Formats: sequence, structure tokens, C-alpha cells
Amino acid sequence: MPRPHIEFIQAQAVRWHTLGEDMSRPGAEAKPLSHDADSKAITAILRYPAGWYLEQDHHLDSDEELYVLSGTIVINGVSYEEGNYAYLPAGYPRHTMTSEAGADVMTFFEGPHKRVPGPAPDGFYDTTNLVQRIQTKSAEWGSATDPKVMAPGVKRLGLRKDPDTGDATWLLDIDETGMTGEVNRLETHPVVEEVFILSGEMHMPMGVLKEGAYFWRPPGIPHGPVGTKTGSLGLFRCKGGPLTTDWSEDPHPVQWNAPYEPFLPDTLAGSLLPDYDSTLPY
Ligand SMILES: [Fe+2]
Repeated sequence: MPRPHIEFIQAQAVRWHTLGEDMSRPGAEAKPLSHDADSKAITAILRYPAGWYLEQDHHLDSDEELYVLSGTIVINGVSYEEGNYAYLPAGYPRHTMTSEAGADVMTFFEGPHKRVPGPAPDGFYDTTNLVQRIQTKSAEWGSATDPKVMAPGVKRLGLRKDPDTGDATWLLDIDETGMTGEVNRLETHPVVEEVFILSGEMHMPMGVLKEGAYFWRPPGIPHGPVGTKTGSLGLFRCKGGPLTTDWSEDPHPVQWNAPYEPFLPDTLAGSLLPDYDSTLPY
């Protein structure tokens, strides 16, 4: 069964779990946002406490994609700070992992993410999709002249694109002028769209996505119209191929400050807190 439609949750509402010794990151905490019961792929915020370390030559059986939300984590001497991104394919060798002051890291595992001692077997580690590190704050972003950018006031930074599947990850930064119209068209994509809001607000008919908002939307679901007057920075992924958009013929009125009416699967029920503080980042 593929991952269920989740649209949307504030990460503030999801419980933390401490990871056990047999997990890929023992002693860290995890806030799972969505997972695939078959492939064991998961999207989670991992919280590495101050002083956390893992000194063991090992690799994972699946790809790990990460974006540092706050703090710093050092992998094999490479320092990943706030706003840094990496895609580390299955088999990527890890010798030391440390987080002196702690770190919160948006993490996407593409499979069971089993920690396996020692190097990967010959031929297992494919570097095609390796992205060692992108420092997104100092990187050169696409502007409105970029055909992938939809409007002035919107900037885009591509982080990766799988040359075989078309799966991709990018940041989209909409400024306070970029999507203020009172009407907008509905969008439909032929692939999964997965988003985590890093800052700002995004208004949709099912509510206002704030910092820490997350959704996993399966293919073929019309959505929107979308608007923002504060601007919004989001981490986007598409799964199942490149993201293309079919726009509705007719524009629809943007619903500013719509009440929260999410689409959530039963599987999330045990993970959600009855009360949460939406002023915290997540
Ligand atoms: Fe979309």
C-alpha cells in the first residue's frame, strides 16, 4: 500500500519518539510525518541531542536525504549546518557522525534505513544521485527568468533530480508579492507532491499552512487555489516522476484564513497530540 494522503499536519502536533539501539540513529528523537508501510520509506524530523555521536563504520540499506532545520550535524568531517542539504545514496559510507550542540534535521529515508556495519558490498553504492552538500543560503537561486519559476516574486533552488526516475527536490521561496492574487487556478500533478513549510504562510481551502506544516499528496488530486501575503519558503519533493502541472480552466477565489479541515489517515491518530503550541517552529 502506498503512503496515505496527508494534507496537512503541523509538525508541532506530532509526538517525538526516542530511537532505540537497533535503529539507524540510536538515542536521537524522531517525529514521523508519513511513512510507507510496504517499502518502509519514511519522512521524519530527527532531533539529535547535544553531544550525540555515532562512531561506527557503517552504511544504510537505503537512500537518506536531509535538510538541516537548525543546529549542526557532522558526518565524516563534513559539517551540515542550518539550511544545508544532502542526498546520501544507499551504501554511502559513514565513519563518524556527531552533533556537538544538537540538530533538527528533516530526513527522508527511501527504505528500511537499516544500519549495517562496515562498507557496502561491491556494486551496492551507486554515486549517481550523491549530493554531498548544498549550502542553500549561499547558493544561486533561479529567478523569474527561469522557466521553472512561475512568477516574479518567486525563487527556486533545485537540490536534486534523479536522472532515471525524474524524482526531484527543490526549495521554493515565494516573497510577499509572489502570490497575493484573490483568485488562482487549481493544480493537478501526475506525481506525488510532498512539502514541508520552512517559514511563512500558505493559504489553502483546508487551512493555513504555517512553519512546520507538512503534506504528502498522492498523484491526480486537484488542489488550491493557493495564496500567500506573508510569503512562504517550502521544501518540495516529487515522487514517481517529474512534477508537471495541469491548471484548471477557471480561476477560483483564494480562501484566506480558511478553518483547518485536513485530510488525515487513521494511521496518524496515535501520533498526534491533543494540544500543541503552533508558535513553536515544530
Ligand atoms: Fe501543487
